[in-house]
Amino acid sequence: VITPPLRIDGAPGPVEWHDLECGSYRADLPLWRDLASRAGGRILDIGAGTGRVTIDLASCGHEVTALDISPVLLAELARRAGSRGLAVSTAVADARDFELYASFALCLVPMQTIQLLGGARGRGAFLAGARRHLRPGGLLAAAIANAREGYDPSAPPPDPDVAEGGGWRLESHPVALHDEPGGGTTIERLRTATGPDGQRFEEVDRVTLDPLDAATLEREGRIAGFEVRPRERIAATDVYVGSDVVMLRA
Ligand SMILES: C[S@@+](CC[C@H](N)C(=O)[O-])C[C@H]1O[C@@H](n2cnc3c(N)ncnc32)[C@H](O)[C@@H]1O
Repeated sequence: VITPPLRIDGAPGPVEWHDLECGSYRADLPLWRDLASRAGGRILDIGAGTGRVTIDLASCGHEVTALDISPVLLAELARRAGSRGLAVSTAVADARDFELYASFALCLVPMQTIQLLGGARGRGAFLAGARRHLRPGGLLAAAIANAREGYDPSAPPPDPDVAEGGGWRLESHPVALHDEPGGGTTIERLRTATGPDGQRFEEVDRVTLDPLDAATLEREGRIAGFEVRPRERIAATDVYVGSDVVMLRA
């Protein structure tokens, strides 16, 4: 059971669900901090969400630009950064088609966002854009997960993520994994929210991860003009699968 801080003014929305399902993950932060401290320049966080990684790195003194396709999540990221006195830039954009007119020393793609880009074509477009935004010698680091790692369909489902705040209780139960015909994996979660006046909302959320392994992303990186550097590994935790982190140098 994970309990990230929950701040709800009205009914729960994308920010609260995002925080509940992603906000407590910390296993990758040491790697991003280490890469950031060695980068020596501006950092671009792709699929930054509400800022789990961006705010951590900005708190360490790094200059970070947060890019996400969701204006709602980025607005919350900007609010949180502002309330901590952190100067963070935000860009609402699709990672497959962005132009920031800026050059970065490090581009991070945490938490499998690289598997949300619509397959090889989407990744190719992203890789080309990332390379254009990296200074020569700059590094792209992208985490890849196998949602089926350690998955045992006969085992009882994992504990739900749970958070409480403002009179609300949110639960997100991972209920199923489905194989897609194209090789992707759909993760299905049942979300329930119970409000202070007994209101109850229920929805099923489905996210499909593209099939991807490190060797494939490295091959795509070479095609996009990157030099492949040694991979990193983020260990699995009790709750989260581990990740391979592909490292590509511009
Ligand atoms: C799994 S969350 C990761 C959030 C955050 N990086 C973290 O580690 O907590 C994936 C994020 O990618 C964003 N995203 C999905 N597709 C995207 C796209 N095509 N371009 C930019 N962002 C995208 C989502 O809005 C979401 O915030």
